[in-house]
Amino acid sequence: MKLKGIDVVSISDFSVDEINYILKKAKEMLPIAKGEKKSDILSGKILSTLFFEPSTRTRLSFECAMSRLGGKVIGFSEPGGTSLVKGETLADTVRMAKSYSDVIVLRHPHEGAARLAAEFSEKPVINAGDGAGQHPTQTLLDLFTIKEEKGKIEGKNVVLIGDLKYGRTVHSLAYALTMLRANLTFVAPSVLQMPKEIVDYAGDKGLLTRVSTSLEDVIPTADVLYVTRIQKERFPDPEEYKKVAGTYQINIKMLSEAKEDLIVMHPLPRVKEISPEVDSTSHALYFKQAFNGVPVRMALLGLVLGAVE
Ligand code: NCD
Repeated sequence: MKLKGIDVVSISDFSVDEINYILKKAKEMLPIAKGEKKSDILSGKILSTLFFEPSTRTRLSFECAMSRLGGKVIGFSEPGGTSLVKGETLADTVRMAKSYSDVIVLRHPHEGAARLAAEFSEKPVINAGDGAGQHPTQTLLDLFTIKEEKGKIEGKNVVLIGDLKYGRTVHSLAYALTMLRANLTFVAPSVLQMPKEIVDYAGDKGLLTRVSTSLEDVIPTADVLYVTRIQKERFPDPEEYKKVAGTYQINIKMLSEAKEDLIVMHPLPRVKEISPEVDSTSHALYFKQAFNGVPVRMALLGLVLGAVE
C-alpha cells in the first residue's frame, strides 16, 4: 500500500484498509519503539515540528519516533520565539519549514489550519491537532491500543465521555470507530455533546449509537471507556467553563459495576477526570496508550516518507 507523500489532515481521508495497514506497520515497529532493535530507515530525513499550542506527548513521541528511526528533528514549541510575533502568516511559516525539512507536523489553535498548511507544502503535512477539529494521529494510536488490548474493534462497546464538543481527539476517534464498526455511546453534559454531524454519521452507518448524560447507566456494558478533559482553553466564556468543570470523575467505586476487562483510556493530560486511585487498577491503560504513540508515529512517518511500504 502506497502512502508515500500523503498529507494526514483528517482521519476520514483514510480508507479502512489504509487504517488497518498503518496499525499493522505500527505493530512491526514495537521492538524499535522500545529500543530493543535498531533502525536507521529515516537516516538523512528531517522532520519539522511546528507547535503553536502546548503539547507534551504528541511532540515528544513524534521526536522520539523520528530519532528511533535515525532521522532528525527541527522545530519550535513556543511560537513566541518565532516570526509569528512579527506578524508572519502560517502560510509563510509552512513555506519555510517545507524547504528546510522532508515532513511537517503541525499543531495549531485554528480548525482547518492543517488543511491550509498542506496547500502550501508539497511535502507531507501531518495534523497534530487543529483547534477543536481533529487529531488523526492520536486516533491511530487510540485504535492501535484498542486493537492490541481487545483483539478487534468491530462490535466493541466504546463510551466516549467528557468534552465531546471541543475535544478534537474524540471527533476523529468517533469517525474512525464508526468506520471500524464499534458501538458508540457519547456521554457529556448537554452543552458539550458530540456535534450533530458526527452523531448522524455514526447513526447513518446503522451502528448502535447512544447519547447520554449519565455515566452510571453505561459502565456495566462498556468494553472501552475513553475519558477526556474539558477543554478549558476553547470556552469563549470562562463562566461557562466553571459550570461544567469537574462534571465527571472516574473513581474505583464507579468501576465496581464494570466488566472485569474494561479498559479506561484518556489522551492525556488529565485534570481531575480520572482519580489517581484508578492508575493502579488493571483497567488503567492511559500511560500505555501514550507510549503507543511512538510505534504508530514511527509507522506513519516511515510510510509518508516512503521508507516503509
Ligand atoms: C489532546 C489534545 O491536544 O487534543 N492531547 C494529546 O494530544 N494527547 C487532549 C487534550 O488536550 O485534552
